[in-house]
This record gives sequence, structure tokens and C-alpha cells, in this order.
Amino acid sequence: MSYRAVKGMNDILPDEVAQWHVLERAFREIAELHGYAEVRTPIVEGTELFVRSIGETTDVVEKEMYTFSRHDESLTLRPEGTAGAARAYVEHKQHAKEPVSRWYYLGPMFRAERPQRGRYRQFYQAGCEIFGDPGPACDAEMIDMLVGLFRKLGIADVSANLGCIGGPGTRERYRAALRDFLKPKLESLSEHARARVEANPLRILDSKDPRDRAACEGAPGVTDLLDDADRAHWDGLRRHLDRLGTPYVVDPRLVRGLDYYTRTLFELTSRSGELGAQNTLCGGGRYDHMIEELGGPNVPAIGFAMGLERILLALGQVAVEKRPRCFLAPLGESALGAALELARSLRDAGVAADLDARGGSLKSMLRRADALGARHCIVIGDAELARGVVQLKDLAQHQQEELALADVVARLSRREAGGGP
Ligand code: HAM
Repeated sequence: MSYRAVKGMNDILPDEVAQWHVLERAFREIAELHGYAEVRTPIVEGTELFVRSIGETTDVVEKEMYTFSRHDESLTLRPEGTAGAARAYVEHKQHAKEPVSRWYYLGPMFRAERPQRGRYRQFYQAGCEIFGDPGPACDAEMIDMLVGLFRKLGIADVSANLGCIGGPGTRERYRAALRDFLKPKLESLSEHARARVEANPLRILDSKDPRDRAACEGAPGVTDLLDDADRAHWDGLRRHLDRLGTPYVVDPRLVRGLDYYTRTLFELTSRSGELGAQNTLCGGGRYDHMIEELGGPNVPAIGFAMGLERILLALGQVAVEKRPRCFLAPLGESALGAALELARSLRDAGVAADLDARGGSLKSMLRRADALGARHCIVIGDAELARGVVQLKDLAQHQQEELALADVVARLSRREAGGGP
């Protein structure tokens, strides 16, 4: 019997994790520069939270949730981070503590989708949410932050697609307009879409089925149906983005796969690297009614989440800065004891040290030092140890010198810190 990871869920091995760290650091850095603080919510929530917030007739709730029951409770592995963050915001009465909360999170999400490149059943998101600011300036600031982040990461061809879905009134008018548009085409729609014309025609705009795509050609855009308040918000958002010089493309038929959105919608896409069809790096929007629907006060909100696997695919190979290391090669029994002590002293001084305690020839140890990418190798032999010295090899310069054991830490900590010899 051989064991394999669950389909659509991937191991991320240590040599890949270094690239994840680069990306996660860049995200944390930019989020914190913009005043976001990290929140950590559970990976499991009560199922009803997702049904209520994401929407009963969405793909996520209809067919992609990992749901199970325990102790008569229906629980679900989170398919996204917004619902949990909003639940925590309400549960901890965050609105009473500060007028505006800016939160960010990083972590695994779970959706039982058909796996393919860029689409997994366990995937990682980094996301931000702002509670308490009705926008549109903070909407523009958020989109500008994302464009800046992708630029900084080196994804050159990012396109920020912008749409507006309006408030509940506009949404209802748009639903009616779409129903009127799609009803004469009922026969040409996929079965799944046909069943949605009445309940949720917006979802059909999002369908990947070529029959639905063809039927949606020429469908009305929502921006023609906005009421005055929605239009003022939409105009304000574009005005702020223009002022910032943030590039964007208006997509009047942009809809997102989740039902909670109001007004601003956006997606950032790219054709870079090894991204295939799954080229949406990041999606988000405003959800001004969720907090109230979850039993909280009337607090507006906006947020986004990006798929870290997709960003790494877009980036290709990320340059990882390696911390200089030194390698200790003890040759003999008493040398091993001294090497253990020296390795501890080096690490205490902030120098990364690897010790090969398995014994073996000097040649094999040097090969190992090379494989680990060590800059220095400290060879400790029993005879030299009796004289209180070691051999310090500079593996890059191919130089070697004899050094007093007592001076090794001072010398290497100076060198690794970029100081002189
Ligand atoms: P979403 O569009 O469902 O939005 O997901 C956001 C991003 O997560 C996608 O653009 C994509 O990069 C990544 N993603 C989604 N599903 C998968 C998958 N199966 N495999 C790999 N990556 C995936 C949300 O989740 C919202 N919570 C975003 C948001 C936050 N809206 C407001 N606040």
C-alpha cells in the first residue's frame, strides 16, 4: 500500500517553501505599510456561515465545500477567508473598539473543484479586509496597493479589471435585465445555466461553458443601471484611481463567483509565467451588507484575496537570497565534541552552521558542504585540536588558513555580517 496526498492537495517541499517565504514577506510588508494587522481565524467554521454569506446558489456553496458533521454540528473547511473574518469582527464587537479595522490574513482554503494547473482543492490565499470605511477612496487605495505589489514582485503584465455591481436595488434591476436578455436564449444555454436564469442569472455571466459564453455575448452591462448613489461611488473610484495614475480596465460585465458583493468589484489577471487558463491572481470587492447580515451593526466593508500558487506560477523561479552558512567537518571523536560546542557558539552569534556528525572522510564532508551551499568549512582534526587550532576553508575563494579555535566565532560573525576578513 502506498500513500499519496489527497487529489488536488499538494505538498510544498522545503526547497519550494523558500519561494513562498519571499512572497509572504512581500505581502506582509506591503499590508503592514498600509496599516493592516494580521488576524487568524479557525480553518473550520459552522456551515451556515458560508451558506449565508457566500450565497446558496453559488458554485462554492452548491458543490465545492468540504462539509462534515461532528456532535450534531455541521462544519465546513473554509473555502475563503472573508466570511470567517467578518464573523470574528461581529463576534468580538470590533466596531466598538475602532471606527475602521484593517485586517489581513494568510492561510489555506479548501474547495472541491476539478484540479488543474492553478486550481487546487487546498490552496493558499493572502487577503485583506477593511471594515468601517464606505469608500470609494479606500477602494482605490486597495486596488493601487495590489497593482504596486504585483509590480514590485516583478509581474509586469498585470491587468486590473474593474466593475461595479451596485447596491441591492441595482442588483435586482440588473438581474431582471439579464433574465429578459437570457430568456429568449434558454434553449442554447447549458442545463446548469438554464436552472439559474430565475434564481441567479448573474452567475451565468461567470460560466465557463462555451454555450453560456456565446449566449451572454452582448448582455447588458450593469453600469447603465446604477442608481445615483452607486454612480457617485463608481465615478469617485475611477477619479481616485486616475489621480493615483493606477492603470485599470473597466469591465461592465465583471461578476464574481460569490454573492456577497456590492458596488466595487475587481480582479487582477496576468498572462505571465506558467499561468494557464486560471489566470486570475486576485479578486475582491465591496460587501457592505455582510456585517449586518451576520448580526452586526451596519458597517461597510471591502476586501480581496489572492491565490499564492497562482502568483508563484506567474513569477516562475523566484530569486531566493540564501543566508550564508558555514559547515563544520569534525574528523575524529574529540573533534566531534568540540564541533558540537563550536556550532552552538556560532549559532548563538547568529551564524548559520551545519555539522556533519556522521563521521566519514574529509572529501565526503566537503562534498556535503558544497551541496548545502556553505561559504566556509571549518575542518577540525583531533591533532590540530590538541594545539587549539582549526582549518578555515573559504569555499568560494578556494583559500585555507589555520585559525585559533577561540577566534572562529568572532571571525565568522564579522564576515557573515559583511565585515572585513
Ligand atoms: P475568490 O475570487 O473566490 O475570492 O478567490 C480569490 C483568489 O483565490 C482567486 O483570484 C485565485 O487567485 C485564488 N483561488 C480561488 N480558488 C482557487 C483554487 N481552487 N485554487 C487556487 N487558487 C484559487 C475570494 O475568495 C474572496 N474571499 C475575496 C475577497 C476578500 N472579497 C472580499 N474580500
